[in-house]
Amino acid sequence: MTLDEIIAKRKSVRKYTGRAIDEQTVNALLESARLAPSAVNFQPWTFIVCQSEKAKQVVRDSYPRDWFNAAPLYIVVCGNHSQSWKRPADGKDHCDIDIAIAVEHIVLKSVELGLGTCWVCNFNPEVIKNGFRLPEEIEPAVLLPVGYVTEDYEADPRNKNRKSLDEISEWR
Ligand SMILES: Cc1cc2nc3c(=O)[nH]c(=O)nc-3n(C[C@H](O)[C@H](O)[C@H](O)COP(=O)(O)O)c2cc1C
Repeated sequence: MTLDEIIAKRKSVRKYTGRAIDEQTVNALLESARLAPSAVNFQPWTFIVCQSEKAKQVVRDSYPRDWFNAAPLYIVVCGNHSQSWKRPADGKDHCDIDIAIAVEHIVLKSVELGLGTCWVCNFNPEVIKNGFRLPEEIEPAVLLPVGYVTEDYEADPRNKNRKSLDEISEWR
């Protein structure tokens, strides 16, 4: 697949088969995140791969949804605010920006590998922090359920409801 094809094919997947994902495939996803750029190359992130039932239950408790429960694996993407770059001009913390790039690498790589994912931010971070005993400076920022996509969901042509280029771009 070309990059254009991967971008066009990517959609939020909320229907997974129970098929397990092998370790090599998970490592390929993590490698795509590892190579992501970050401000000053500080790489202020940790990826918690949740494959045990115990770890998966923590993640599911933080975002209780039937579709989410069906994913065979989760990656909890955490930002480290003690490592992230703060812009000297105004102190802006670039942790979220760095994480977003790494997450999208995983999302696009998943498409290439025949997997589906969905960005999830509407979870309860306290449940994750307590469940994984994360230190204060580590923020769980994004949950990524990962799984093979059901055939009907794969075939469903999602209408990419997006603003037009005219609406979102300015040429000056
Ligand atoms: C930062 C971010 C947070 C999101 N959080 C959630 C979420 O908590 N639950 C969910 O079902 N989808 C979530 N989404 C998915 C969006 O709803 C989805 O990307 C958007 O509706 C466009 O649809 P598409 O991804 O299928 O193209 C999130 C997406 C982003 C980028």
